[in-house]
Order: sequence, then C-alpha cells, then structure tokens
Amino acid sequence: MKIQSFIGSTPLVELTTFDVPVGVRIFAKVEFMNPGGSIKDRIVSYILDDAERRGVLKPGATIVENTSGNTGASIAALAATRGYRAILTMPDKVSKEKQDALRAMGAEVIICPTSAPPGSEKHYVSCARRIHAETPGSFTLNQYDNPLNGEAHFHSTGPEIWDALGRSVTAFVASGSTGGTISGTSRYLKMKNPSVTSVLLDPVGSIYHRYFHEGVVDPSQIAPYFVEGAGEDHLAKCMDFSVVDDVIQFSDADAFATCRHLATREGLMCGGTSGANVWGAVQVARTLAEPATIVTVLPDSGNKYMSKIYNPDWLTQNGFGTGENRELEPTR
Ligand SMILES: Cc1ncc(COP(=O)(O)O)c(C=O)c1O
Repeated sequence: MKIQSFIGSTPLVELTTFDVPVGVRIFAKVEFMNPGGSIKDRIVSYILDDAERRGVLKPGATIVENTSGNTGASIAALAATRGYRAILTMPDKVSKEKQDALRAMGAEVIICPTSAPPGSEKHYVSCARRIHAETPGSFTLNQYDNPLNGEAHFHSTGPEIWDALGRSVTAFVASGSTGGTISGTSRYLKMKNPSVTSVLLDPVGSIYHRYFHEGVVDPSQIAPYFVEGAGEDHLAKCMDFSVVDDVIQFSDADAFATCRHLATREGLMCGGTSGANVWGAVQVARTLAEPATIVTVLPDSGNKYMSKIYNPDWLTQNGFGTGENRELEPTR
C-alpha cells in the first residue's frame, strides 16, 4: 500500500502533566504521525483525489502552491508517489529544515521575503499565483480559499475525535492559518453535539483575533512573530467564524514554553503551533469548574524546528531565554 493509505487515524493521547482543574481532561491528536509529517496530509490527499476524479489534475502535471512548509511537504510526498512535478513558494521565515525537506522529495522551492506586503509581487502567495498562471496545465490547491480544505477535516479529523470520545467532548481548541482545521473539525463536532465549544488560538501579530472580536481587519496590527503555521495577514475564505465561539491570543513565548513542557514532561517533541494549541487548551481548562474534555491537535513535529525552538542559542538570541528553566505561563 502507498503512503496515502496511512493518512489519518492518528493517535489521540491524553496530556496528564498540566496544572488544570480536577476532572478536566485534555486530549491531543498526534498529527505529526501522518506519513508526510503533519496534519496537512489530510487536506492535500483529499484535494488531489478530488482533482484527479474531476480530471483537472492530469498525469505528469505541475502542482503549484504557496505554503509555510507542511502543505508543501504533503504535496511533495504525494507528488513523488503519483508522478507530479511540485513547485512550492514559501516565506523566508520558514525553518531551513522545512525548506530542505521539500527539496529532498524532489520539489522546486522558491523562497520569498516574509516582509513583502500581502498582494505585492514578491509576497509568496502572489508568487505562486503568477507561476500557476504562467505554467500550462498546472494545478493549485488554493488551500486558503478552497472549501475542500475544511471539508477534509469535516470528513476525517472531526469523525475521528467523535468516534474516540463521543459526547464527552466539551471543547475543540486549535490555532489556524487557512482555518481548515478549526472550521471543518468544529463544524463536524457541533453537528454531532451543538454544545461543543470551539476556540481559535491566534498569535499576537495576526489579524484574526481583532477581526473576530471587533469585525475589523487592521493592517497596522500585522507584526512579525516566530510561530510558523498559525495566524494570517489576510482573511482566508476557509476560516469560518460561524463555527468559532471564541478567539484567544497567544505569544511566541507561550507557545515555545509549552513546547518545552510537552517535550520534557509528556515525551512529545512538537512544533510551535502544537505548543500554542496545548497552551490554549490549558487556558480553556482553567476556566472550567465542571468535568470536561478538551481536544486539540499537534499539527507537526519538533524535528522541523531543531534550529529554532529547540536550539538554546536561537532561543537566547531571540529573547526567549535558553528554554531550560521556563515554566508554563500562568493564566492571563
Ligand atoms: C504547523 C501548522 N500548524 C497549524 C496549521 C494551521 O492549520 P490550518 O491551515 O488548517 O488552519 C498549519 C497550517 O499551515 C501549520 O503548518
């Protein structure tokens, strides 16, 4: 069987070392155990299957996509097994390990400046659009605006959580970039039980938090942050706020401190958004008095960030201490 057959059905582990009220349980789906190394395998396989069925992705064609790395890794892996060419554009803040992994699987990688304003020629999204337009017969997943992104989670992540935990699920908590994970999973869980609460984690420097609470996209709020794969500088069509009940902000320090805790206390060496997601799950847990079950996802592995989140020099240079003694931030 090819790698495609092993996407999804990821382990659901209970996190037991965080200081949360008695009776409140936190579970996390270990998405970095997907064969392409992240949660993005789910949407890439779903969208490519659909495109092949509809005949819009022809044998030997080129797949072009803008990515912060994980969608690119899934595309590179599935393109390798299915005989497609892959051209992937990324912002230069993406870790070197992630860039190299795509090249290792035969993809062409184009690095664009993170500082390029959205819509400008050099922005990684515009760059992918241009290459797609100029490459005859090419296919783009258009992951930010493609409704199949959320649909993939509606048909896989949501049912897997429900089948494992059923009506005990109180809340689903996740950070979002395209919004596919939070929107599709929340839509499924709310369909099964409308009282499930959905909470989006948004990094300081992203637009979603203010948009959710005040209905405003404020470009002056766009600021750099280190966590890769969460937050946005534009509104993605896949982000469906009608199934989101609250948006809370996290900082890089919150996410990285929780990564450290997950690695050293739970044996789960995760990427920055996993740290953010678990930090958020802990914050939600601390607001609850009744027995409850909070579910989140660990989108990718810490192996992709050895030069950053798990590198004491990098942590020190960027003002996070060495990571050695940092405790999980208290509730805000
Ligand atoms: C590491 C990581 N975590 C979380 C996400 C967010 O997922 P979504 O795009 O479904 O909102 C991404 C998306 O790129 C990611 O790369």
